[in-house]
Amino acid sequence: MNRIFLCVASEIPAGRSREFLLPDGACVAVFHSGSGFYAVENRCPHAGGTLSGGFLDQDVLMCIWHGWRFDLRTGECLTRPNARLRAYSLVIEEENLFLKLSQPQT
Ligand code: FES
Repeated sequence: MNRIFLCVASEIPAGRSREFLLPDGACVAVFHSGSGFYAVENRCPHAGGTLSGGFLDQDVLMCIWHGWRFDLRTGECLTRPNARLRAYSLVIEEENLFLKLSQPQT
């Protein structure tokens, strides 16, 4: 499996997020929603704002810039159905959080 180590999972407490720069230059925001960890591209499709500082409501992320909402589980935009985020798969092994590089979900 092609994957990259991000951090120890406990370094992202519930309700918080953290940014990671991938080897290909992409910036990913990882959220701990309380029900799980989710990774999406850290660029809002509306106007390019960073998403890592957004507000969480369960598994829904609200962009701090203009309020667009996204389902973190899928990357689906709940505000504009024709927009979406690239979502990445994560794996936790022995408390370590990894991002799968080969299988983005969009
Ligand atoms: S930049 Fe995210 S809603 Fe406008």
